[in-house]
Amino acid sequence: MSNVTFLSGEKIPLEMHKVRMVQKISLPPVEQRASSMEEAGYNTFLLKNRDVFLDMLSDSGVNAMSENQYAAMLQADDSYAGSETFYRLEKVLQDIFGMKYFLPAHQGRACENIIAKTLVAPGSVALMNYHFTTTKAHITLMGGAVEEIIGDEGFKIQSTAPFKGDIDIDKLNEAIKRIGKEKISFVRVEAGTNLVGGQPVSMRNIREVSHICRKEGLKLVFDASLLADNLYFIKTREAEFKDVEIINITREIASLSDIVYFSARKLGAARGGAILTSDDGLHVKMRELVPLFEGFLTYGGMSVREMEAMAVGLRETMDMDVVSQTPIFIEALCNELLAKGIPVVTPPGGLGCHIDAWKFCEHIPQTEYPSGALAAAIYIASGVRGMERGTLSEQRGEDGIEHLAEMELVRLAVPKRVFTLSQIKYVADRLTWLFAHRHLIGGLEFVEEPKVLRFFFGRLKPIGNWPEQLVRQFRKDFGESL
Ligand code: F0G
Repeated sequence: MSNVTFLSGEKIPLEMHKVRMVQKISLPPVEQRASSMEEAGYNTFLLKNRDVFLDMLSDSGVNAMSENQYAAMLQADDSYAGSETFYRLEKVLQDIFGMKYFLPAHQGRACENIIAKTLVAPGSVALMNYHFTTTKAHITLMGGAVEEIIGDEGFKIQSTAPFKGDIDIDKLNEAIKRIGKEKISFVRVEAGTNLVGGQPVSMRNIREVSHICRKEGLKLVFDASLLADNLYFIKTREAEFKDVEIINITREIASLSDIVYFSARKLGAARGGAILTSDDGLHVKMRELVPLFEGFLTYGGMSVREMEAMAVGLRETMDMDVVSQTPIFIEALCNELLAKGIPVVTPPGGLGCHIDAWKFCEHIPQTEYPSGALAAAIYIASGVRGMERGTLSEQRGEDGIEHLAEMELVRLAVPKRVFTLSQIKYVADRLTWLFAHRHLIGGLEFVEEPKVLRFFFGRLKPIGNWPEQLVRQFRKDFGESL
């Protein structure tokens, strides 16, 4: 994907692919959207996909696949043990990452389970730029704790720092001194740091962190689930890599890490997961857990068809036209919103456009879940499904007290090569309307609150009749339009 300049001087992101297979979607009228949202307990996870116009909940498992990926799926070799498919995928992974061993798992969190079971002892601490929900859950399940050492810039919604996912080296050194290296289970770097707005990590930072880990004898675990976008940012924001091929950037990252793992629902545009290492000892320990939790060592819970798609998808990811599409679309969406004064995380990162719900809904206290309310309001206003990333995604303490999130965001994910530019423009238009009527949006309260992962299954209701008022205003402004 590249930005091309039109005669008017306007810069337009131009797709470097054509669409050869499509799926019909529909846009239900606003009244129906409001009742679907009510039925779903004001939780976008509980909406049915058939009621959704643009599904921007996640990029997980919903990126567009290429013709070559589909073709490869037909050649999959099904076998409980020793399938050709496994060896083909292994070869691709070894080539791309330059690591010795590949262990398959059914998705990213399954890799995290195996890594946590191997490295986390009760009472130990895992240091990381920032946690991801499933990562933290597996570490705490093993009796470990997570400490976040991202630079302060990572918490600033608006910033010009190019690599807001970077680890703060002073915080890393201080934590090692304070905790003691024998109590540190591992150091984890997450590419394209998900929960701070898809913000990238620089190669400079990965090199420094790796150097400290090697000096101190600590294991460096690299979560490459969001590597594709991060590769684009290293290439475009770090001068040294301007002319370096992205496969070589990938190889350098892997050479600096002891373990690389990823969700192939994201990286490689398929479904599945992979753990890579060159460390003989770690390989042997982790290998024992694969048949126990995932499946035999040559499939690890994945279907061979998905493994073939993953092999091709990973090769295709090592291409600037492929890795640039999501970040450039996100940048286009963020810039349209910023021009209308709508607060979003800047600089635009990967994964999706992240709206600052705190600011958007200044009048809603955090205990009434402004991000959850905004996600529900966006769906009602547009049929677009986003994801709450704020206090609702936190877990209530044992004492019943809310754990207030550091940021209140709504993520509008941009799956790879799925949406067109007019659809992106539609999102910007409806958000602009909603922003003008933001005072109509009210808070939410729980009706059913699960103890763990409440954001997945929890059901809520609006405080007051704000959804109705929103529908009324929509009809007033848009007439018969959907
Ligand atoms: N690590 C990161 C950085 C992720 O973003 C995810 C998933 C995982 C690990 C777990 O992978 O889903 O295959 O088990 N993120 C998805 C999302 C769920 O919507 O952001 P998984």
